[in-house]
Amino acid sequence: MTDLSRFELTNRKALVTGAAGGIGKASALAMAKAGADVAIIDLKEKMGRETVEEIRALGRKSTYIHCDVSDPEQVTEMVKEVVGTLGGLHIAHNNAGIAGDPIPLMDDSAVDEWKKVLNVDLFSVFYCCREEAKHMIPQRYGKIVNTASMSGTIVNCMEMDGVPVAGMAMIAYTTAKAGVKQLTKALAAELIQHNIYVNSISPGYIITPMTQIIQDTPEFLEVENRTTPIHRQGEAEEMAGGVLYLVSDASSYTTGHDLLMDGGHTVW
Ligand SMILES: NC(=O)c1ccc[n+]([C@@H]2O[C@H](COP(=O)([O-])OP(=O)(O)OC[C@H]3O[C@@H](n4cnc5c(N)ncnc54)[C@H](O)[C@@H]3O)[C@@H](O)[C@H]2O)c1
Repeated sequence: MTDLSRFELTNRKALVTGAAGGIGKASALAMAKAGADVAIIDLKEKMGRETVEEIRALGRKSTYIHCDVSDPEQVTEMVKEVVGTLGGLHIAHNNAGIAGDPIPLMDDSAVDEWKKVLNVDLFSVFYCCREEAKHMIPQRYGKIVNTASMSGTIVNCMEMDGVPVAGMAMIAYTTAKAGVKQLTKALAAELIQHNIYVNSISPGYIITPMTQIIQDTPEFLEVENRTTPIHRQGEAEEMAGGVLYLVSDASSYTTGHDLLMDGGHTVW
């Protein structure tokens, strides 16, 4: 018989980056409901502190840490602070990310945009995983989940009047997210010797602050809903079940996996 207690996170210590809103907030709240203390890492202080209050209202410890995850020194300090404040680190959801700007590939600023998106969406995940593993290796336990995207599997079709509109926002983003998936697999192979599990989630079209432009543009919404078998966008909360599985002991035989939660978008 399945032992559902394997999904519980009682007294586990967790951090979630990009948890001021959207998918990260839903993940952090779900972990707290499952029994974990959760540190909220972001650059949006007001929203981050609101998430902290919601977690405390659930009876769990929480703290807000202001950290730019694309800066390796800030990441080192952030992970130390999480360990000091919560008293340990068992779980990390490296989720912070940006979509980038839709500037054309031939624009003078395309190279700067490329570096910016790769720094925030890919390099940051390496910095976070490395620092988190430093604390997890001695305790021989860790559950790391990285947020990739279905854009790491496919290149999204975003066009208006037959003209592609995403530019660098898609070129850099899709490359970064494919990198997150492969980084996850490489780290899973490297870290399982220390009993540290590393998996990724790949959301599809999800309603969050990042996708506000989609909500505000009926033409984009129409493309997304038509090209997704479920024919609607997802809610951030619909990602939380997958995260809970991957950060709990229910996933004791799963590492290096990328969990697509995309309403079937990549099926077609
Ligand atoms: N919404 C979607 O459709 C979708 C689809 C696939 C993947 N994703 C990924 O999910 C993750 C969460 O995105 P979301 O949709 O919830 O959007 P969001 O904008 O609500 O969340 C991203 C969070 O990351 C934070 N952040 C950005 N740069 C940061 C930095 N340098 N340091 C620290 N924090 C930083 C932001 O302040 C924000 O709170 C991202 O990695 C995104 O790429 C989102």
